[in-house]
Amino acid sequence: MENTGIDVPKGLDKVIVDTTAISSTDAEGELIYRGYHAIELAEKLAYEETAYLVVYGKLPSKDELKEFSGFLSERASLDKKSDSILREISSGRPKIIDSMRSTVSFMHIEEKENDKVLLEIAAKMPRISSDAFRYSRGTDTLPEPDGSLAERFYYLITGKADKKDARYFEKLLVMYMEHEFNASTFALRVAASTLTDPRSAIVAALATIKGPLHGGANSEVLEYMLKAQNRDDARKFMEYKLSRKEKVMGFGHRVYKKVDPRAQFIKKELLELSKAKGRKELYDIAIEMEKEMWERKKIPANLDFYAAIYMYLLGIDEAFYLPIFASSRCFGWTAHYIEQVSNNKLIRPSSRYTGASGLNIRKGKE
Ligand code: COA
Repeated sequence: MENTGIDVPKGLDKVIVDTTAISSTDAEGELIYRGYHAIELAEKLAYEETAYLVVYGKLPSKDELKEFSGFLSERASLDKKSDSILREISSGRPKIIDSMRSTVSFMHIEEKENDKVLLEIAAKMPRISSDAFRYSRGTDTLPEPDGSLAERFYYLITGKADKKDARYFEKLLVMYMEHEFNASTFALRVAASTLTDPRSAIVAALATIKGPLHGGANSEVLEYMLKAQNRDDARKFMEYKLSRKEKVMGFGHRVYKKVDPRAQFIKKELLELSKAKGRKELYDIAIEMEKEMWERKKIPANLDFYAAIYMYLLGIDEAFYLPIFASSRCFGWTAHYIEQVSNNKLIRPSSRYTGASGLNIRKGKE
């Protein structure tokens, strides 16, 4: 029996599976959110303004932004019951991303409309991350802060109300927000295409982003970067990994084969930040690793490479790296859920069977 479907490259590499009006990437290194360069958005807009743009497809008016920001801050905390379950599951010290995924499954959500449900989940992500971390270490949770969305998020993960550092953090949040059909977004779209509820689709996305080839890369980057004392160590490390044909986390990308524009933007910000923090040597080590990888393998650094050391200099515990990425990407997922269900077709590919055939039960048992 022959499957007459179309064969596509493994991993759907370079396969265009659907259209989207949310964002676009290209191999030359361009990233667009809803028609605007993502880097320009990070430079000029606040996190919540960009989130509004990504979700609703247009820049918000003053009133729309006020209402949107108000909604996100009103829905930022957990109700008592959800909070006590989060405390319970966090006591076993799971990774924060696992606590996030479990909490999204059971938490009380007030809203009923799809977009509002999704935004309510996005609004609670910083609180869930912060409390999961603190419950797992037996320390007190932090009070709900004031300020912009990025300032509040920054406070909840560092305990610091520092506007300057929160602004650096905000730029990274914008870079993490959206990236067309990456693995977690695609998983969410597959789930959404069954017309499952938005909460379940976010759980699918959270389960997918956790993998080390996707969102789990950034904490591994920090580990090896901090081991290098100087440029020489950096070079030796890369030599060692590549001679053993091992993958180095923080390098390579399915779409960006020459340059990841997000990485280059954060690299530029990192230069400023590392000087401001008196830790320029960390920037130099990163540059050396990037150079070595490019010269040897022509593989560019990706966002996670520069994001790891950037977050480290912002005083963010490594446990938060993936939760930060997932929290910001939640706005992208929101937009994709809405887009998928508004013009839906069940995503259900076929496979080519390569297993055994013609086996006979009686013979097999002999
Ligand atoms: N370190 C060393 N070699 C790498 C590499 C890395 N980080 N990323 C890719 N390569 C090499 C592969 O070994 C492979 O070499 P080969 O052809 O000699 O076997 C080649 O480049 C193609 O890699 P492949 O994994 O097939 O490409 P892909 O498009 O499927 O993979 C990633 C993209 C992101 C999965 C891959 O680059 C990777 O695993 N990177 C590390 C994880 C990471 O940083 N993830 C965050 C992404 S934002």
